[in-house]
Amino acid sequence: MQTIERYVVWNNKGGVGKSTITFHAATRYAEEHPHKQVLVIDLCPQANSSMMLLGGGTAGEQTVLQLCTEAIPRTVVGYMSTVISGGPGAPLPDPFDYAVQVASVNSNMPQNLGLLCGDGNLEPMAPAVSGAANAPSLTPLVQPWKWVHLIFRDLVSAFAAKFPQQDIVVFIDTNPSFSIYTELAISAGDKLIVPVNADDSSRVATNALFILLHGQVPPHPIYGAWTYAAKAASFGMIVPQIHVIVGNRLTQYDGAAGAFSALSDATADTLFHAYRANPSYFTPRYVMAQNINEFRGMFAVALRDFNTAGVVAAHLGRPISKLPGGYYPVHGHSIQVNSDRVAECRKAVDALISML
Ligand SMILES: Nc1ncnc2c1ncn2[C@@H]1O[C@H](COP(=O)(O)OP(=O)(O)O)[C@@H](O)[C@H]1O
Ligand SMILES: [Mg+2]
Repeated sequence: MQTIERYVVWNNKGGVGKSTITFHAATRYAEEHPHKQVLVIDLCPQANSSMMLLGGGTAGEQTVLQLCTEAIPRTVVGYMSTVISGGPGAPLPDPFDYAVQVASVNSNMPQNLGLLCGDGNLEPMAPAVSGAANAPSLTPLVQPWKWVHLIFRDLVSAFAAKFPQQDIVVFIDTNPSFSIYTELAISAGDKLIVPVNADDSSRVATNALFILLHGQVPPHPIYGAWTYAAKAASFGMIVPQIHVIVGNRLTQYDGAAGAFSALSDATADTLFHAYRANPSYFTPRYVMAQNINEFRGMFAVALRDFNTAGVVAAHLGRPISKLPGGYYPVHGHSIQVNSDRVAECRKAVDALISML
């Protein structure tokens, strides 16, 4: 039977590596699993992971712009506009009219990787999406809030129906702010990949993440009922569980940081505390972690600093597996990439995808 796995890469903090991780994890996962279909849905208006997937640098930027400016954009915005303007009873649009096969644009990419491209118009469109979600329910059969929030979840099902013989793995890139399109991204996922850095704001952001997903205890007497957490619970919707926490770029602070230090002590402490209080906020393992070190071993992975290899991979839209050592042109400069460093980066990405 076909399986569908849905990963959302999210943290309520910018610049922690969400798009970088989406790009490398989805690409490597597709390379390593040629019999599965992998789909990236870019629900961040900055469209950074889309640009990298579609060739990086100005080439990637141009292709994203081209997809966004078609009469009916072949992007998350085009798809969402079509569904919303069709209304809740309308048949779903064909996902192939919107998703692009990444290899058709960027020959470095595996054949089994699709992309529903990010689009800057998510931002101006947000009030219309909120309006549709908050419309009153006119018949008992249609709950506008639930229908709108499940648009991308339903898209994944429509995409999977196109490949009935293959397993499907979806990676969703997000914006840090908890805007309506981030709510749609969260609602489309089952498992969270949460990148964190070593700083204090990462610890604070992980606290915010629990409140946004599950609500404050006790709930605020007024705002409590307005939250995503309260609404999602009232409609019986799945709230994704934390599956893996990626300690990103910790090596920039601590040269020898190994897997054990994948999380700063403070962040690990906050997360382990939440795990003990609410194990169901995390995906299940065979056994419960009994202490913080077991918890780190089960849920955390370190992603080393990619240094120049990361800059070149993003600029040229190349998977880390297709980056031999040598000199590469980046913004008129010749940048040297060392093959040993690339091998280390590949090992780090492989360690992450081995946890998926
Ligand atoms: N492991 C890494 N090694 C080197 N640079 C990284 C790494 N992760 C992220 N970066 C860089 O940090 C910046 C922010 O990363 P990005 O993925 O755009 O974060 P987000 O999507 O969370 O805002 C980018 O310039 C990116 O190239
Ligand atoms: Mg991003």
